[in-house]
Amino acid sequence: MAGLRVAVVQFAPVFGDRQRNLATMLALLDAARPAHVVVFPELALSGYFFQSRQEVAAVAEPADGLLLRRLQQEARWRRQILIIGFPEQANGRLYNAAALLLPDGDRAVVYRKTHLFYKEKLCFDPGDTGFLVVDVPEYDVRIGMMICYDWRFPEAARTLALQGAELIVCPSNLVTEAWEMVMPVRALENKVYLAVANRTGTEERNGERLVFRGKSAIYGYNGTVLCRAGERETTVLIADIEPQRTRSKAFDPLDDIFADRRPEHYRL
Ligand code: ACM
Repeated sequence: MAGLRVAVVQFAPVFGDRQRNLATMLALLDAARPAHVVVFPELALSGYFFQSRQEVAAVAEPADGLLLRRLQQEARWRRQILIIGFPEQANGRLYNAAALLLPDGDRAVVYRKTHLFYKEKLCFDPGDTGFLVVDVPEYDVRIGMMICYDWRFPEAARTLALQGAELIVCPSNLVTEAWEMVMPVRALENKVYLAVANRTGTEERNGERLVFRGKSAIYGYNGTVLCRAGERETTVLIADIEPQRTRSKAFDPLDDIFADRRPEHYRL
C-alpha cells in the first residue's frame, strides 16, 4: 500500500455529556470517510477540566465499555483506525487515556497518558502503559501514541520513534501556544509524521476558565505543515502520508539521525 490518508478531527466536546459528544463524533466520522486513520482530541468523549477524581469516576469507562464498543463497531464498518481520547476506569484507577481501535480488532489498544498536566494530577492516576507503537500490516504503518502534554518531553516522541513509530498521533487539549513551535520539531528530529488533534471552545469550572485554540495539524517527517485548522472551527483535516519514507533515518548520503546518535554521552 503506497499512501495512507490521515484525518485529525477538531471540535469542542461538551463537559460531562458523553452521549452528545459521541453523537458529534459519529457525525464527524462521516466527514472523515476518505481517511484510513482518524484522530480525535484528548478526552473527546467527556470534556476536559475535571476538578476531582469523583467527577472523573462519574464518566470514566473501561476500554470495553459501551461507548468504546460503539466506536469499535464504526472502526469495523468503516475499515478505519480510530484514535480516541477518553477517561478510563481500570482496576480501580482512573487514567487519561487514548484508545486505538483497529478495523479487525475486538479490543482497544490503550495508551495511558504518561505526563499528567496541571489539575489532571489531582484527578487521574499517572499512566502505566509506557509509550506504545501499534503495527498495522493491513495499512503498512506503525502508529505511536502520545497525549497532549507529552509533547513537552522530547523523550516521548523519541521513545516512540526508536520503537519504530512512523506516524505519531497526539490527541490533545492544548491550552498554551508553545506547542506550535515544538510539534514540527518533534516530527523533524525523529523523522516521523505527527498528527495533532486539538479541541476548540472553552471550559469554565470553579471560576477558572480554560481556552482551547484549535489549530490541529498534521506535520510531515521534515517538519512541514501538511495541513492546519483554524482556532475555532469544527473541522476534519485530511492529509496523504507515505510512512515508508520514515523508515530510513538518513537525510543525506552521509547523515542518519538514528545511526549518528551517541547514547553513551546522553543523560536521561
Ligand atoms: C494538556 O496536556 N491537556 C495540556
